[in-house]
Amino acid sequence: MVDTLHQLKLLARVLVTMLLLSLCSLAARAEPPSLYDRLGGLAPISVVVSDFIDALVPDAVLNSNPAIDAARTAVPPAYLKYHVTAMMCQVTGGPCQYHGRDMRQAHAHLNIQEVEWQRMMEVFKEILAKHQVPQQEVNELLAIMDSTKSDIVVASP
Ligand code: HEM
Repeated sequence: MVDTLHQLKLLARVLVTMLLLSLCSLAARAEPPSLYDRLGGLAPISVVVSDFIDALVPDAVLNSNPAIDAARTAVPPAYLKYHVTAMMCQVTGGPCQYHGRDMRQAHAHLNIQEVEWQRMMEVFKEILAKHQVPQQEVNELLAIMDSTKSDIVVASP
């Protein structure tokens, strides 16, 4: 009798454990990995952002806009790298918090036109290709960039 009770308790414990394990695997399946995780986290994101800023700062198309040219000489690239990395980390689902200005405020004085936006996007795609970011993640990053466009590009009159 004591033996049977003991076996029943053991069986119940095994069943509860199996139930918990299957619930955990269900929960894991329900939450697909964030874009942040799929990009490999903060280290690769910061490297891509750093390369991106290094390519943008001396760019002739962007610097033919005098307001952009003036800002890139006044604003340290390291500061831009810090803010853009924090923002990318946050919006892709990472643990960072962006504390910079909103996109409209940060770019209002730069008079950014469509041609400059297109050039920036071209450079961005080149940097993503250089780092062999997979197409799905490229598409998601491009969509994030696109979502900021109306705050950054000056509307045509
Ligand atoms: C053609 C497109 C763009 C150009 C030429 C550009 C250029 C600049 C420049 C020159 C600054 C420094 C402004 C200043 O402090 O005087 C700046 C700030 C910043 N930009 Fe952009 N930007 C562009 C698009 C973007 C995009 C698409 C993002 C992110 C999705 C972005 C994120 C930021 C951030 C986070 C800052 C710092 C904000 C702060 O100082 O609080 N920029 N940008």
